[in-house]
Amino acid sequence: MDDKKMIELALEARENAYVPYSKFKVGAVVLTKDGRIFTGCNIESASFTPTICAERTALSKAISEGYRNIDTIVVVGSLEKISFPCGVCRQFIREFGKNIRIISATSTENYEVYTIEDLLPKSFGPEDLEHGNI
Ligand code: THU
Repeated sequence: MDDKKMIELALEARENAYVPYSKFKVGAVVLTKDGRIFTGCNIESASFTPTICAERTALSKAISEGYRNIDTIVVVGSLEKISFPCGVCRQFIREFGKNIRIISATSTENYEVYTIEDLLPKSFGPEDLEHGNI
């Protein structure tokens, strides 16, 4: 699926955001390497800390359905200024590969494309636990 179509889907998913506290809607789309699409939005909690970001909602849907080969993640937060994935989401995404494309957009006409390694350089990941250390 092309990038602009995914941005449209992220804008649609953003409308489902449950954000009574921040009033800040975020939508996300995950594209798997075999072409499957999973959408997500942020979901807040009165207890605050259980809040989940749109990116982690969408990625959790993909992983829990058995799709671990991730190609691209699109995120749309603010419609005025491009929003990028938070630090927690960067680490969560990086678990599934360093070359995952990240598209941050306000619209189909205004977006930036990176890899997760661009956004989280010198990261700690699954390979670092391969050999143990005691
Ligand atoms: N949020 C996301 O959904 N993704 C991010 O990468 C940044 C923050 C959400 C969490 C919370 O519901 C709201 O935006 C304000 O922080």
